[in-house]
Amino acid sequence: MALLKTENLTKKFGSFKAVNNINIDVQKGEVYGFIGPNGAGKSTTIRVLLGMLKATSGTASIFGKDVWKNAVEIHKHIAYVPGDVNLWPNLTGGEVIDLFMKLRGRDVNKNRREELIERFKFDPSKKCRTYSKGNRQKVSLIAAFASDADLYILDEPTSGLDPLMERTFQECVMEARDQGKSILLSSHILSEVERLCDRVGIIREGRIIESGSLDELRHLTRTHMIVETKQQVTGLEDLQGVHDIDIKGESISLQVNTEELDKVVRHISQFGVVKLESAPPTLEDLFMRHYEGNSGGEA
Ligand SMILES: Nc1ncnc2c1ncn2[C@@H]1O[C@H](COP(=O)(O)OP(=O)(O)OP(=O)(O)O)[C@@H](O)[C@H]1O
Ligand SMILES: [Mg+2]
Repeated sequence: MALLKTENLTKKFGSFKAVNNINIDVQKGEVYGFIGPNGAGKSTTIRVLLGMLKATSGTASIFGKDVWKNAVEIHKHIAYVPGDVNLWPNLTGGEVIDLFMKLRGRDVNKNRREELIERFKFDPSKKCRTYSKGNRQKVSLIAAFASDADLYILDEPTSGLDPLMERTFQECVMEARDQGKSILLSSHILSEVERLCDRVGIIREGRIIESGSLDELRHLTRTHMIVETKQQVTGLEDLQGVHDIDIKGESISLQVNTEELDKVVRHISQFGVVKLESAPPTLEDLFMRHYEGNSGGEA
């Protein structure tokens, strides 16, 4: 069941299309990774989903309700964490956590709140104006995970967290998912995306250029091979799915589309393999290709 769904969602600023005809959906009980380079349109999409911006065209719904018309109703059941958290400077962290939770119209679950404060090693007694960026993010994260939301919308929620706290955050996301909650996670931390997300959508210049489960995307990745052969290998450049051939003396280094691996290995084996090394494909390589702009078109 899709808890969140957009259909041909478009948001223009003047004549500029920040979000261009995007279709995404987040199913119950899944973590959906929303990734793409700076300025791609992630936060704009999220602001439309939160009812902070009105879509230019297309539709967006959460819990089957229109995000613009039913924002107040929807907000009772979602938790939102932005990357840039602004707080009330004269309230303490603890007061703001309570305030955030009350604004969501729910009673404060004291035990859960205390548990998260402990896990995030957070001191709630200080005035917000004294908190570092990471500590401001903790306020927002603790309030979000302490509230019993059905859908968490997290827009680069960990850009200020240290590695230990990043791990705590990941545990919280996995626990929420295990309880059947849904999470939309926008992130530049690719290892975080790879670890947490069931499916991802890659957005670039307002358009979704790739989407699917991580397993599906893995098929789009390339294996790095280094080979040495008895006879000189010929005809490699004519094979489909072979990239970045680099010949250094006896040794050839190349990238191979994972789905073409079998064919390429067969071809090379005709020349008498002396040495063969291969490095498994990483999703990070795939993501980086999209960030860099070679949107894999030729892959
Ligand atoms: N209020 C606005 N008025 C005009 N242009 C805007 C506005 N908000 C965003 N944009 C433009 O829309 C595009 C998408 O911005 P958005 O903030 O959605 O990117 P993003 O994917 O969240 O990037 P980042 O990874 O840097 O957070 C950018 O080119 C941005 O300059
Ligand atoms: Mg953003």
